[in-house]
Amino acid sequence: MASSFGAAQVLVASNRGPVSYAVADDGSLRSRRGGGGLVSGLSAIGPESGALWVCSALSDGDREAVRRGVGEDGVRMLDIPADVHADAYNGIANSVLWFVHHMLYQTPLEPVFDAEFRRQWASYETYNRAFAEALAEEAAEGAAVLVQDYHLTLVPGMLRELRPDLRIGHFSHTPWAPPEYFAMLPDDIARQVLRGMLGADRLGFLTRRWADAFTACCERFAGGLGDTRIGVHGLGADADFLRARSHEADVDERMAALREEIGEGRRTIVRVDRTELSKNIVRGLLAYRQLLDDRPEWRERVVHVAFAYPSRQDLAVYRDYTAEVQRLAEEINERYGTPGWRPVVLHVKDDFARSLAAYRLADVALVNPIRDGMNLVAKEVPVVSDAGCALVLSREAGAHEELGEDAITVNPYDVVQTAEALHEALSMRPEDRTERGKRLAAAATALPPARWFLDQLEALRG
Ligand code: G6P
Repeated sequence: MASSFGAAQVLVASNRGPVSYAVADDGSLRSRRGGGGLVSGLSAIGPESGALWVCSALSDGDREAVRRGVGEDGVRMLDIPADVHADAYNGIANSVLWFVHHMLYQTPLEPVFDAEFRRQWASYETYNRAFAEALAEEAAEGAAVLVQDYHLTLVPGMLRELRPDLRIGHFSHTPWAPPEYFAMLPDDIARQVLRGMLGADRLGFLTRRWADAFTACCERFAGGLGDTRIGVHGLGADADFLRARSHEADVDERMAALREEIGEGRRTIVRVDRTELSKNIVRGLLAYRQLLDDRPEWRERVVHVAFAYPSRQDLAVYRDYTAEVQRLAEEINERYGTPGWRPVVLHVKDDFARSLAAYRLADVALVNPIRDGMNLVAKEVPVVSDAGCALVLSREAGAHEELGEDAITVNPYDVVQTAEALHEALSMRPEDRTERGKRLAAAATALPPARWFLDQLEALRG
């Protein structure tokens, strides 16, 4: 039997992989590499480690690459049919599991678990099975497999059945819902999700709070954790990379352009988000408007620099949310703006160098999510900001567990309180701001991505 095992000693599985493809006008394929904690984590174990990253084809370009046999060493992209992927990714992962864990439903009207939901759930099972089968095929005997996120909750259980010899881990990059909210899922689906996860030897979460919520769900719906171990790994910012990258020439250029938009001598309140429904960008703008009403002394003297990059635009609620962000920013600019002062500088086109430029210029960072697994922006801005920034931080962000002491804490629903917190942050004494900024940066970088990844691998093998 041993001969039917694969060669990979360490396997990572995630919906989105480290590389994506697009078909160019001349028919050739162009590849693009992504970033993030997993990419730098995996690079920490080196190219000789026999690692393999299993991911899904997400676009037509990706599917074309799989069909042409184009690929990168160490990456296996699964050619999951587009309709199955759309049901699993948009229908279940992003419209159901994401909403449950972030508690985002407007419950008088949603969710509705009808026959259409059941049809999409079957696709989610098919999609998870495709991952489990590929991992079973590629893994060497006794290999370690690290499965990522809510897209792949059923994989650990499915893989355990196919390959009992493997060490299986799963990591959640999102919050986990408390049992009262998780109970919204149909009973059999709730059980299936938990049992799928409990197929793992070890489950990782970003904070104690999300780990405890998961444990509570298991106690209530699945008869406890069984033999599965739980670990907390609070992913930190990658200080070395960020400090070096934020001093490259393209970032300096973006800083000059941003300074023009902001105007001489003004303070900045910076936010940078993917426009996910959980990020609370609209209430952030409402709080800024409240600040201009309550504290008119800040008019002309402050600019809200808000970058809201598009995400999941296949979903109408995401498109509507982005439109509302734009509408409100315009409304504020029309109502309060003067010939020399644009109160809100909003950008919606993703540009990493410009994000770093905004981090460097930040006097205040506004991170006010409704609920967030960690929120790396809260950790990155204090590391990169030139003068050390004040951080206004939602108590519902995972990062609050580590940064709360030196941040100004807000309830994300309370825009009056958030406005007051912005005022406090803008008014902070420079020496306080520097001191707090240093402590924030130290806490934010306590667990760099490489260590975060290796800790999980060691704990799984140990
Ligand atoms: C958020 C979550 C991650 C997740 C990602 C997926 O950022 O925090 O846990 O992996 O969304 O984003 P995608 O663009 O692939 O839907």
